[in-house]
Amino acid sequence: MIIEAWSRVRCGIAPADRLLNFTVVKNTFFVTTAIDYTNGAPHLGHAYEKVLADVLARYHRLKGEEVFFLTGVDQHGQKVQQSAEKQGVAPQEFVNGVTAQFRSLWEKLDVRYDQWAATTDDRHKQCVRAILQRLWDDKDPRTGASRWIYKDSRGGYYSVRQEQFLTDKERGPDGQFGPEWGQVEFREEENYYFRLEGSRQWLLDLIDARSRAGNPLVLPDFRVAELRNAVEKLAGDLCISRPKARLSWGIEFPFDADFVTYVWFDALVNYISFAPGYDPAVGADLAEFHGWWPALHVIGKDILIPAHGVYWPIMLRALGFSDEQIPTLLVHGWWNIGGEKMSKSQGNSVDPDVLADRYGAEALRYYLMTDIATGRDADFSEERLVQRYNSELAKNLGNLLNRTLNMAQKYQGGTLKAPAAGTDAGGLRAASEAAIQAVADGLKTDQVQAIAGAILAFSSHANGAIEAAAPWKLAKDPGAADALNGILYGLVESLRIIAILISPFVPDAAHGILDQLNWKTEHGHGNERFRLADTGWGGLPEGHQVSAPVPLFPQLEVQKAE
Ligand code: ME8
Ligand code: MG
Repeated sequence: MIIEAWSRVRCGIAPADRLLNFTVVKNTFFVTTAIDYTNGAPHLGHAYEKVLADVLARYHRLKGEEVFFLTGVDQHGQKVQQSAEKQGVAPQEFVNGVTAQFRSLWEKLDVRYDQWAATTDDRHKQCVRAILQRLWDDKDPRTGASRWIYKDSRGGYYSVRQEQFLTDKERGPDGQFGPEWGQVEFREEENYYFRLEGSRQWLLDLIDARSRAGNPLVLPDFRVAELRNAVEKLAGDLCISRPKARLSWGIEFPFDADFVTYVWFDALVNYISFAPGYDPAVGADLAEFHGWWPALHVIGKDILIPAHGVYWPIMLRALGFSDEQIPTLLVHGWWNIGGEKMSKSQGNSVDPDVLADRYGAEALRYYLMTDIATGRDADFSEERLVQRYNSELAKNLGNLLNRTLNMAQKYQGGTLKAPAAGTDAGGLRAASEAAIQAVADGLKTDQVQAIAGAILAFSSHANGAIEAAAPWKLAKDPGAADALNGILYGLVESLRIIAILISPFVPDAAHGILDQLNWKTEHGHGNERFRLADTGWGGLPEGHQVSAPVPLFPQLEVQKAE
């Protein structure tokens, strides 16, 4: 059958036996984000998630891994159709406009993704259709019916004005549906359903097995219990269709043109429809796909249950993915405003574009990564953004750079002299090794805030070492030449290592530091110059010439618009 061939070849959905035969030797890192709804402009929560994934992608590149970073937009569904109608434009035109806003924001924030996932792309639509067809054709030999999808007719209360079915959550305190729903009527509707219940025990076992193996399905692992509880209570199957009569903005069912695909079923598929090895234009290369899969999915806590923690693993299982191929979820918390979730619908959203223009993209990146414990919630504060930048980048790291280069110029004409063998002036080498270890530890559990903290602690240590060694005194003492050489070499070497370590957060500033240190590698001057392999102590040769300092981190001031 054509569709079956498509689903295997173009979409790379191989039968289970073919999937399992790959021995995967991985030096690859595949990271994805949630794809954002295009019913409104991006807000700070969106920016946070994309920068978080970008920082992780950059760390894995630093480790010398091959990285594939996928992000994009979720363009179908009721919300989008309604927003487009409000503006009186066609849905595609509407999503194109919002999509452009997202893309230009990622460019401004230096979010360096490898593939853009837009769900109205033909490539994606074909893949969703191929998957639906494949699941529909996967028949139980005894009944002749699909093992995964069935059609059913169900009744419920429907708001004509809001064009949606209502649940008990929508009932007011009096048990009635309020006037905001307009006319509410009981309707019978036929739809297609995807079987979930039959996978409940499988999913519980998988969650437990992964935790026992020290490879939890969900990070941070305090969320595993939350997911497990939800799976235990799992009841009913997932309605994966919408009759075109009430929603047209979606991907048409391949075997029933009266229906479009429910937006979540459509959106989740982006993680494979845009994965390497799935490009229909190039043809499927399953070996390539399995060199990348499984991905790490970076998502917010509101979409863990049920979408990513329940639907998605079961969808993959239905497609023949093995237990080892079920992806890990890195679940981040929310940016709040005065304790309330920031969102478009709350009308309290903060525009990351404006913040980047006011304070610079790197100040914003740095703030987002450091003022929230990875996985937890935090309250947004513009004052704290400015304060963190000033105290940690301008004062701590910026002063370290200025003072070090000034002293190197003043006392040694900018030429480094090798330290005496077996010495570790100011304990800088030990501090450097501790910071590198902390970065490696933080990466094991994706604790980005902790990583930044360790690097800044190293910088503080180096500033303390300047005070303790007082090079200005050593320079006046002819007997202290070794001590002066040792501390100045150690400080420059520390800055070189700090620049590499901190580059995923603030790549431009890191380039600036390495340029002033005059550090060159055979890997060129692009981001390839940042390599963890180069953080070994002693990378700078004797006689290395550093430049004069140029301030990199101008002090910021809060500039709130009225
Ligand atoms: O959920 N703080 O899209 P979305 C932190 N299209 N993160 C936040 C946030 C906040 N205040 N508000 C939202 C969707 N996010 C679906 C995803 S994936 C196959 C489909 C995060 O635009 C949110 O948790 O509502 C989610 O991970 C992402 O932004 C997109 O949210
Ligand atoms: Mg949302």
